[in-house]
Amino acid sequence: MDQYDDIAEEYYDSSRHPTCANFREISKNFLTENILYLIESAIIFDIGAGNSIVAEIKSEIKSISARVVISDKSRNMINNSRSLHAYIDAVCICDAQKDLSAMVDYFGKCDLAICNLGDPYNTKNFWLQLSRIVKDQGNVIFTTPSYEWSQSFRANHQNGNLVSAEFATKNGVKHVPSFIHSNKTQSKMMDRYGFQIQSIEKLALNRLSSNNISEKISSSIDKREGVVTAYIARRNY
Ligand SMILES: C[S@@+](CC[C@H](N)C(=O)[O-])C[C@H]1O[C@@H](n2cnc3c(N)ncnc32)[C@H](O)[C@@H]1O
Repeated sequence: MDQYDDIAEEYYDSSRHPTCANFREISKNFLTENILYLIESAIIFDIGAGNSIVAEIKSEIKSISARVVISDKSRNMINNSRSLHAYIDAVCICDAQKDLSAMVDYFGKCDLAICNLGDPYNTKNFWLQLSRIVKDQGNVIFTTPSYEWSQSFRANHQNGNLVSAEFATKNGVKHVPSFIHSNKTQSKMMDRYGFQIQSIEKLALNRLSSNNISEKISSSIDKREGVVTAYIARRNY
């Protein structure tokens, strides 16, 4: 299996990877709509941050005064956040499935954890780790490509491999981990680690500002269906 370090240099190139760009724009649109979560939180953790979507939104919306701590397993991916350093209070390189404790070293546990497009580390170990760093009654917003899209796309491409995402890079085809579950399985896993689901939102293509829709998306799903799923949950001890 390849790792995000291998694709970091071109991950945010929307002409090479329009599917990632579409997913990210849809998620960003949703997060901006749910801005109160961001505004009312004093400490926000952005996990698997890459080019931090939280720092990006903070740079655009001045009423967000939260301290922002970002983490990622891949140094190359998190380097994409360099231009946003003025909006980031601390950076950790750590594996979300093994140890997120370094994130609390700066300002303590968080009021809000954002895991945007968090399918690469969406395992029981990750939810256990997360449960240790979110305050009681703190919130989590976790987004992932939708189960419906991933099942449809991956069954017809990638030889039916359902637990990885394929990237055609300039250095050849790379496969990185990607765990996408049905709403029921996902909710059950989150609940087991103390995250009570508040809402599940199916985000469709109408959240995109342009008609530049990736062929991988448009060929695999009806355009009214959700292509990204967002889970909002509250930590209950
Ligand atoms: C699909 S990208 C999304 C990046 C970013 N959140 C965004 O919205 O632009 C997934 C991110 O998760 C990171 N990642 C993958 N496995 C991880 C792990 N085990 N622990 C922490 N981060 C991980 C990758 O390096 C990558 O930055």
